[in-house]
Formats: sequence, C-alpha cells, structure tokens
Amino acid sequence: MRKIHILDTTLRDGEQSPGASLTTHEKLEIAHQLARLNVDVIEAGFPCSSPGDFEAVRLVAKEVKGPTITALARAVKADIDAVWEAIRVAEKPRIHVVLGSSDIHLAHKFRRSREEVLQIGVEAVKYAKSLCPEVQYSTEDASRSDRRYLFQVIEAVIDAGATVVNIPDTVGWAVPAQWGRLIADIRKNVPNIDRAILSVHCHNDLGMAVANSLAAVKAGAQQVECTVNGIGERAGNASLEEIVMALKVRRDYFRAETDIVTRELTRTSKMVSRLTGLLVARNKAVVGANAFAHSSGIHQDGVLKHRKNYEIIQPEEVGADETQIVLTARSGRHALKHRLETLGFVVTQQELENIHPRFLALADAKKEVYDDDLYALMADERGSDHQKVKLLSFHASTGSDEAPRAKVRLSIRGQEMEREASGDGPVDAAFRAIDEMTREQVVLKEYRMQAATAEKAALGQATVVLELNGRTATSQGASTDIVEASLRAYVNALNRLLP
Ligand code: KIV
Ligand code: ZN
Repeated sequence: MRKIHILDTTLRDGEQSPGASLTTHEKLEIAHQLARLNVDVIEAGFPCSSPGDFEAVRLVAKEVKGPTITALARAVKADIDAVWEAIRVAEKPRIHVVLGSSDIHLAHKFRRSREEVLQIGVEAVKYAKSLCPEVQYSTEDASRSDRRYLFQVIEAVIDAGATVVNIPDTVGWAVPAQWGRLIADIRKNVPNIDRAILSVHCHNDLGMAVANSLAAVKAGAQQVECTVNGIGERAGNASLEEIVMALKVRRDYFRAETDIVTRELTRTSKMVSRLTGLLVARNKAVVGANAFAHSSGIHQDGVLKHRKNYEIIQPEEVGADETQIVLTARSGRHALKHRLETLGFVVTQQELENIHPRFLALADAKKEVYDDDLYALMADERGSDHQKVKLLSFHASTGSDEAPRAKVRLSIRGQEMEREASGDGPVDAAFRAIDEMTREQVVLKEYRMQAATAEKAALGQATVVLELNGRTATSQGASTDIVEASLRAYVNALNRLLP
C-alpha cells in the first residue's frame, strides 16, 4: 500500500468560496478539527492577502500540533517573507510558492517569456529554501500548460530545492484519463522527480475534481490537495471525504491508503458547513444527510437482510452513526462543556459563560437539546466575536390584516439606539430598522432559514450573506424565534464587515 498525503486547503482555497469568510477564531477551530482528522498538511491561508489572514495563519501555526502547516505565497519576496513570518513557529512549517506555467497565464497575466518565468520560479524556490527546509512549488494552470515546458519547470524547481511539486488543474479543465497520463508522464520524463513529493490539486468546474485526483493517485501522485465538503473557488475543489473514502473502500483498485481518521469525517463536515454557512447537499456523497438513508422498499428490505446488499460504507466508519447525546436543563456546565468538546469545539471559559444561559433558555423552551442545536449555538456564538454592534432587544408584529413592523434596539460601538420600521415581513422590517441605525449601504445577498433539528420546537438557524463596499460576509444566528435568529445572523455579519 502506498501512503497518500492529504493536504487540506479548506482554510485557503476553501475560504475563497464567495461569502465563506471565517474569523480567526473559526479558522483555529477548524484547524484543530483537521488535526483530529489527522490530515498530513494544513494550508492555513494566504498571509499576504490581509493582516487578518496573516494573524490567522500565525495562530494556527502556533497552536495546532501534528500536521505540517503551510501557507501560500506568490513567487515574490514580500509574499514569501510574510508566509515565513506567519508559519515559522509551527512544529513542521512548509512554504508554498505558486506561479503560472501555461502560455495563457504567461502572456496575459505576467507578460513574460517562458524562460523569464522559469527563472522567477527558480529564484523564488531558492529564496524560500533559504528560510525553510520544506518548500512546495505549484505550477498554476498546469492542465493547460505545454507539457515539455511543464517538465522543464518541475525539474528546475526540484533542482532549486522544492521538496513537493504540486500540479494544479486550476480551472477544472482536465479529464481523468488524460490527467492520469500527464502525472504518469511527469514521473517518466522528469529525471529528478524522485527527489520530491508529486502532488495534485483539482478544481471542480466540470464536476471531475475527485475523479481527476483519483486518476492522478492511480498514476503515481503521492499527495492530494482537497477541501472539506469540496468547498473552494467557483465550483470548488476536490472533496476530501470523497477522496479518502474512495481510497479506503476501493483499496483493492488503488493500492493506496491515507492516515485519515475517517470517524471524524462527519463531524468535520458539519463544523465546516456551520462555520462557513455553506450547506451540504442532502445527496452529497459520504457526508450528505441522505448518504446512508435507504428509501425504497426493495432497498430497505435488502439492507435489513444484510447491510452489504446496499451499503458499501458503514455509517460508523465516517462517524455518521454517532448517537445523539441529549442534554436537558438539568445538564450542568460541565456536561455542556464536555459535549461541546466532544463535538470538536475548543471552548474558552468566557464562551462557556456566554453560551450557558442561552443553552438553559433553549433547554427550557425545547426540553431536549441535540448536537445539531449545539452546533447552531456555537456558530452563532463564534460569529459574534469582537462585537461592534450588539442586539439588545426587539419587538416584531405581523398578521393577515396588519402591516409587518419591527422595533430594534442596538448598541453600536457602545452607543444605544432604537428604530422602528415596516417591511414586506417582520424579518425585512427588522433588517430595515438596523440599516437605519448603522447608515451603511449594506446589501443583503442571501438569506436562509433552516431548522437545526427535525422537531416542532426546533431551533431556527438563519444564514445571512451581506455585502458592504465589495466585501461579503456570511454569518449565522440561532434562536427558537425566527426573527431573533435572523437579527442575530444580520448583526453577526455586520460585525465582520464594519471597519
Ligand atoms: O487552483 C490553483 O491553482 C491553486 C494553486 C495556488 C495551487 O489554488
Ligand atoms: Zn485552487
């Protein structure tokens, strides 16, 4: 069995999904969970992109033990310096340098010749190597690059010190058989390829990211880059859980394995979905809500007779069987903290103080509090970090013969104010009241409401995507009252956007 290294880029490429921005604290939470999942490498961000991203990468590098920690740099000194500054405290740091290799990128992005770009790449690797023993080099847009030139670049960067070469299908152009052949040809034609780990990074524009990644593994790739739930730029990246389970279930075919603790897959998927606000389709392979649900009579009968009749993955292998521990108003702080930690959250004392009264109120209203309620409460709590705007109180009214109205009381940077507004519905009226107080040109791009659990007294979880001055933020709010859940989500998103 060959070992396949899993590089998770949920915190870098995944976070490039429109509206999926995460706070520093949320990134750290996900990184801890990725360590429990036992990924080999965490790509924690792109430090040069913003001071916030730099800080998040630095924190992950400092706090998260186990996996190698890497971050992305363009092939310029300032980017490489920023990456090194952010990751140097990690147990196992790796600098990741990216530079285009296709004629399209050379002509229309860099306006330089092949030879010039190759030289820039080599110099960047040499510089990164002078700082850090592990250097990964990505030949951006490799799938549309001239093969001879690609081989030449790979050989040159390995000679310059790259320890990992990553071959990206940046625009999701590849098809499996062709992509596998390219990887096999790299192995055959690049004389020093054995001195580096050969990696692939596939995008899902034509829905083939996972198939392409697996074809590459079959052809000799040793590292796969992927994201939890397949989130990422445009149509996303190859999905980690699908690749890992395909390798596990079909080890007879791939003759390769990963070190992933597959029981953590469902928990990781839920955490990423809750914190990014990007929902997982019910029919998504491995982690979708229907992945293990048998509906037709023939299938149900078959599974009851013998699970293997219709199940190639057992739910417990991916942690989908977890019995829900039900907490009640009698469960103390200790039980609450313990359950949150079991779900993967690292809970500070302050967070416990904040969440406990909300948990008690919820337990009073619902009697039984499920894991999904706790995920929703934590997503709300984490989203309300560093509040500039706080929701103090509200009143909303509506009816078949009454115009919807809402009165909202906020504290904005310590100053209390109140407004009343009308709207198409009570949620719209409440959002308008907030806009009147903040006086910002906020655009509501998306609004969703879902029940955290399937009960009559369910906790409502609102997701709001707001845009302000070209930046977007996704946030969530949870309450048994849907107007309150919506207001909390709106205020949480504002807190991410307001300067
Ligand atoms: O898609 C891409 O080419 C990338 C690189 C930075 C690896 O994300
Ligand atoms: Zn990418």
